[in-house]
Amino acid sequence: MSKESITLTPFAEDVLTGLQAYNKTLPSKYFYDTKGDDLFQQIMHLEEYYLTRKELEIFQTHKEAILEAIGDGQPFRIIELGAGDGLKTKVLLKHFLEQGVDFTYTPVDISGNVLEILEENLSSEMPELKIESYEGDYFDALSEISESPEKDIVFFLGSNVGNFSQEEAESFLSKLQNFLKPEDLLFMGVDLKKDPAIILNAYNDSTGVTREFNLNLLDRMNSELEGDFDRKQFLHYPYYNPHTGECRSYLISKVEQVVTIGGEEIHFRAWEAIFMEISKKYDQPQLQSLAQISGFKPLDSFLDSEKWFANVLWEKG
Ligand code: AVJ
Repeated sequence: MSKESITLTPFAEDVLTGLQAYNKTLPSKYFYDTKGDDLFQQIMHLEEYYLTRKELEIFQTHKEAILEAIGDGQPFRIIELGAGDGLKTKVLLKHFLEQGVDFTYTPVDISGNVLEILEENLSSEMPELKIESYEGDYFDALSEISESPEKDIVFFLGSNVGNFSQEEAESFLSKLQNFLKPEDLLFMGVDLKKDPAIILNAYNDSTGVTREFNLNLLDRMNSELEGDFDRKQFLHYPYYNPHTGECRSYLISKVEQVVTIGGEEIHFRAWEAIFMEISKKYDQPQLQSLAQISGFKPLDSFLDSEKWFANVLWEKG
C-alpha cells in the first residue's frame, strides 16, 4: 500500500500524514472504535475523571433554571452533537417532559450503532419523547436541520469542545454559529481551570484506563492499517499547561525503533513523542473571547458547587 498507487481511507491518510510530520501527531477522533468506545465508557465512571460527574451535578441542580433559560413557551428542538450514551442529557429530557414542554430531541452521531442503542434506551424510559436521530457528520446534520422553522438549541456537552485547540474551537464555533437562526441557542459543556493535580489525574488515572485508551489507537492501526506497533515500547505521558489550559496527551517512544504501517516505515528516535489529544480547560476571559470571536453572545452559565465545570448558554451575537 503505497501512498501514490492506492486510494487511502481517511484513517490511513490521516495516520500517515500525522506520523510523517516532524512533530508526530495522531487525531484523537480515531480513539473511538468499538474498544475505544468501551474504554471511554470506563473513563466516565472513574473517580478521577470528574467531568462527567460534574456535568451531571449541574443538570440535576439547575434543570429548572436551564429550562427557564432555553425555553420561552414555544416548541423547540434539541440537536445534540456527539450524543454518546445520553446518560447526562436524560436528566434534562426527563425534566422537560415532566414540565409538559413541547420539544423534539435530535441526537447526532457518526456512529449509527450508538444512535440505535440510544434510541432504544430513551424510548423505553421515556415513551412520550419525540426522537429524530441523525446519523452523520455534525455539519451535514446542521445544514440539513437548519432549514427548519423551529427554534433549535444545539447541545455540545461533556467538554467535547476541549478536544479543539484555540484556533480549531474558534473556526468550529464560527461555522456552527453561521448555521443558527437568530433565535437559536448553543448550550455547551466546558471544563474549567482548577488545581493542575486534579486535571492531570483525570488523564493519568491510577488504574491505567486512560493509558489503555491512548494505546488502543496503536492496536487499531495494527489491525486496520497493517501496522506493527509494539505498545510496550510506548509511554503514556499527559501534561497540563496552566497558562493555555491545554492538557495534552502524548505517547512517547522509549527506544529508537522503526514501525511499519501498511508498508510505510516510520522511524522513531528514542524519547520521540506522538501528540495524541488536547483536552482544553477554560477560564472566564478565554470563554468570553471564544464567544466573541466566533460570533456568540453569552446569555447564561451554570456551574457545579466547586466551580470545576460549566454549562454555558450562548446566543448569536
Ligand atoms: C470526550 C473529549 C471530553 O478530553 O476529557 C477522556 C476524552 N480523553 N480521557 C476529554 C478523554 C481522555 C474527553 N472528551
